[in-house]
Amino acid sequence: MNVLQLSTNENRQSPEACNPSLWAVGGGKGGVGKSIVSLNLAYWLAKLGHKVVLVDADLGGANLHTLLGIKFVQHTLSDYLDKKVDSLNRIAIDTPVPGLRMICGASDIVGLANPKYAQKMKLMKAMSMLEAEHLILDLGAGTDYNTLDFFLYCTYKVVVTTPQPTALQNGYGFIKSALYRAISREFGRNFRLESLIKRATGQDADQPIATMDELIQGFAEVDENYAERLKAIISDFQLYLISNMVKKDKDCKASEIIRTVCQKYLNLEHITLLGNIPYDSQIEECVARMNPAFMTNTKSQSALEFYQLVNSVIKESSHPEKVNDMTPTA
Ligand SMILES: Nc1ncnc2c1ncn2[C@@H]1O[C@H](COP(=O)(O)OP(=O)(O)OP(=O)(O)O)[C@@H](O)[C@H]1O
Ligand SMILES: [Mg+2]
Repeated sequence: MNVLQLSTNENRQSPEACNPSLWAVGGGKGGVGKSIVSLNLAYWLAKLGHKVVLVDADLGGANLHTLLGIKFVQHTLSDYLDKKVDSLNRIAIDTPVPGLRMICGASDIVGLANPKYAQKMKLMKAMSMLEAEHLILDLGAGTDYNTLDFFLYCTYKVVVTTPQPTALQNGYGFIKSALYRAISREFGRNFRLESLIKRATGQDADQPIATMDELIQGFAEVDENYAERLKAIISDFQLYLISNMVKKDKDCKASEIIRTVCQKYLNLEHITLLGNIPYDSQIEECVARMNPAFMTNTKSQSALEFYQLVNSVIKESSHPEKVNDMTPTA
């Protein structure tokens, strides 16, 4: 593998350090690499001179800090939700990486694993006012409402998958759950629409609705305006897909498969394939040793891909002038 000489800009001055771009990194299946992807995105953004806050939003099993080599955590999200700390900026701790701060999760607090919807929205609003340019939320596995609500709140919704069929299934299932959560929150209080949504989400097995076209048709039969609003929600639903741990060329098709299925059954048209991260044994070894060296090792197989991914992230986010166009040289 070629040695990478990655261009970085550690002394870059930040013209605007508030109103961060909100990125959520999710995906239905556990262990597909959501945390590794979140961490590397955050790391490379910081390395390119951006102010970044990485948030461990896995309320059920927060441990992202250990991947960064941080062993003792003084403040977590629970201190903020318990009102022990009045500002999120105060619990955003410095990390060994300049420009990168982190908010640790709070899996130790039982009650926190189930905050109310309003509490979550308040938290997200506070996060969106943090002094940073990018906020990256590492989400937990599964499709519980907390995970979906954090995911839906973020402007940039990233889904990580691996080429395994189960990961593809779970990735699609996660996207479907997130979309239907958004639809339910909008229309769930209308009895007739709610029963249609139930048929589309498998909660009424007697009269299944298999595709989004059928659901739109059902909405239109209730009222054409509902159908139009439903179409608008679908059209606004933008996604970014990353395939992780790819080993062979054909593995790179993983995201493409999810995109095709999402187009066919959910009518989602705005899906961007953000990149393919190769399987890299160094990542596994460093994680096992709780040593974050895999990020500083620019010779690793995955470094070039993460670097390119981050440049795409910068292009996509609301700071297009910050794109670093100095590509790594072989
Ligand atoms: N590109 C990669 N190459 C090799 N190993 C990887 C790669 N990405 C992730 N891994 C391995 O997979 C493990 C799981 O990754 P990670 O913890 O990021 O998954 P996750 O999706 O966040 O899991 P969870 O749902 O439990 O939070 C890591 O500990 C690491 O060993
Ligand atoms: Mg994780």
